[in-house]
Amino acid sequence: MRLKEKVAIVTGSGSGIGRTIARQFVEEGASVVIAEQDEQSGRRVHDELQSAGGTAIFIRTDVSRRPDVELLVDETVRRFGRIDILVNNAAVLGENGHFLEISQAVWDHVVSVNQTAVFVCSQLAGRVMAKAGRGNIINISSINGIVPLPRCAAYVTAKSAVESLTRIAANDLAPYNIRVNTIAPGPIETRPPHLESPRPTDDTLLGRNGLPYEIAAAAVFLASDESSFITGERIAVDGGMLVNGYRIYGVERPE
Ligand SMILES: NC(=O)c1ccc[n+]([C@@H]2O[C@H](COP(=O)([O-])OP(=O)(O)OC[C@H]3O[C@@H](n4cnc5c(N)ncnc54)[C@H](O)[C@@H]3O)[C@@H](O)[C@H]2O)c1
Repeated sequence: MRLKEKVAIVTGSGSGIGRTIARQFVEEGASVVIAEQDEQSGRRVHDELQSAGGTAIFIRTDVSRRPDVELLVDETVRRFGRIDILVNNAAVLGENGHFLEISQAVWDHVVSVNQTAVFVCSQLAGRVMAKAGRGNIINISSINGIVPLPRCAAYVTAKSAVESLTRIAANDLAPYNIRVNTIAPGPIETRPPHLESPRPTDDTLLGRNGLPYEIAAAAVFLASDESSFITGERIAVDGGMLVNGYRIYGVERPE
């Protein structure tokens, strides 16, 4: 077990990638705090993890509300005595729209959940980690923050900012023995029926979409001591989408 006796907060772990990260962390021996705004899905994941024999608690949290995050951090420390790992996974795509049309309300909401909340969660959990002299923060960005997805200005900008935030936080927190890294997922299936068999695509070099466990595997690696000399880094888990020269140069792919 690679995360034995670790205490991990996973935001947005009521569904999709976050849920799978929470499950794989528990399987690796961690106690997991499900920090999810949706009461029903948060409780469901909590029950799943508990009935699989893991240790998990659910704390209803809207990460865009600072008082919720303060409560999350305080309650985690009260229950477990420490925070070893924080995964900033919660995000919203927001309403897609052309740059010239996007509303201020959409922009503000997406930036508050996808960007500002990553700062707030990292700062508040980071203070607890700094006191303990150790910690590990994993941010989930997106390849859309590197190669912009048209008509998604707020999402793309916030995801780029998460990468930047990772690098600056890695600098400021290194003296406290806190590592900070990013995982940039490519296209990941999060809904049935594609969870059984991911859809094929020419966008990735591997010819298919990814699955949540493939992001969770990278999260376990970054959360564990196996990555003890990695900080300020981004791992793209994207099936080679960012380096897909066939797509970029329009070269025919061999069968
Ligand atoms: N699925 C993909 O293809 C993909 C690709 C690139 C990046 N990502 C990133 O991976 C992460 C997970 O994505 P997913 O596809 O599993 O999404 P999802 O929508 O399935 O899950 C997101 C979870 O976050 C929760 N959430 C949303 N706003 C919240 C808030 N304010 N406070 C607390 N929880 C909140 C939602 O309720 C939901 O449970 C996100 O950061 C996303 O941007 C996903």
